[in-house]
Amino acid sequence: MFDESNYQFTRYLSSKKSVDDRSLNRVVWEKLRSLIALEHSSNPMTVLEIGAGIGTMFERALEWELLVKANYTAIDAMKENIEEAKARVPGWAYNVGYSVEQIADNELKLSGLGREVKLKLDEADFFEFARRNDVTSRWDVIIANAFLDLVDAGRTLPITLDLLKPKGLLYFTINFDGSTVLEPEIDPEFDAFIEDLYHRTMDDRVIDGAISGDSRTGRHFFKIARENGVEILESGSSDWTVFAGKAGYREDEAYFLHFIIHTMYMALKNSPGLDIHKFKNWIEERHSQIENGKLVYIAHQLDFLCRKEPLRK
Ligand SMILES: C[S@@+](CC[C@H](N)C(=O)[O-])C[C@H]1O[C@@H](n2cnc3c(N)ncnc32)[C@H](O)[C@@H]1O
Repeated sequence: MFDESNYQFTRYLSSKKSVDDRSLNRVVWEKLRSLIALEHSSNPMTVLEIGAGIGTMFERALEWELLVKANYTAIDAMKENIEEAKARVPGWAYNVGYSVEQIADNELKLSGLGREVKLKLDEADFFEFARRNDVTSRWDVIIANAFLDLVDAGRTLPITLDLLKPKGLLYFTINFDGSTVLEPEIDPEFDAFIEDLYHRTMDDRVIDGAISGDSRTGRHFFKIARENGVEILESGSSDWTVFAGKAGYREDEAYFLHFIIHTMYMALKNSPGLDIHKFKNWIEERHSQIENGKLVYIAHQLDFLCRKEPLRK
């Protein structure tokens, strides 16, 4: 339970795919899909995905028929995520009916099913990537799923806008918004204390001397968008809701839950003022609830589709 070697981030991202599939707000998605169909029906459009993980959003963009002709660049700061994406996407594409051509070490071309999409996979820190890219390489659409709440959204949005064409679209999804629900209760007072402490670790996170994260990114994004002259075309909730049915948890979602509980353990284990013995028992009980198919997990999140102001440079 407490052994870190049981937990692998790439498997967590894979287990998260079915959870995100259920959670992504379909009204926001459909708005994005209809605008892309209207504005990019003939020429290949360019898409940048930031913090793309192992490529599950790219897969979804084809599974849910978002892209017809596109050049898609997916970047992630973690080498093992990009390596996993390189390993999994060709097999996935072949299995669902695409012909797959490796056109460079980090680039694939998928054709078939009425579509032609090139995928470039790059290990890169977004902020360095943005500094390297000049205004000649701007994108039609920029996507970030479960990313914005890990960084300083107020600093990240203007940098992202500089990479977007005028009138380009931003699709920012699965942005955490301040509520974690774990049922059944163990000890209501302690449960609430842990939730609060856990959210505070998101608010206090500092990476390379900069604030990185906000447990209320979802609600705060409305103001951040307004301050940056960005029009929010659509928004709606995308809460994760994970529970066991008659046949247990779906797909690899028990792993997903164990990973979430472990993440809470790692985030809080050195918190001053926390009774570590009581906390370890609490963590163990949460893992047992998963084993018994009892744990219900809900995380409140919001999705956004935005348009860059045409006059912004
Ligand atoms: C919660 S994961 C989500 C991954 C993927 N979007 C998904 O939903 O499966 C956040 C991802 O952002 C990446 N990331 C965090 N900071 C980054 C940065 N500054 N530049 C690029 N990627 C970053 C992490 O490596 C991680 O893969």
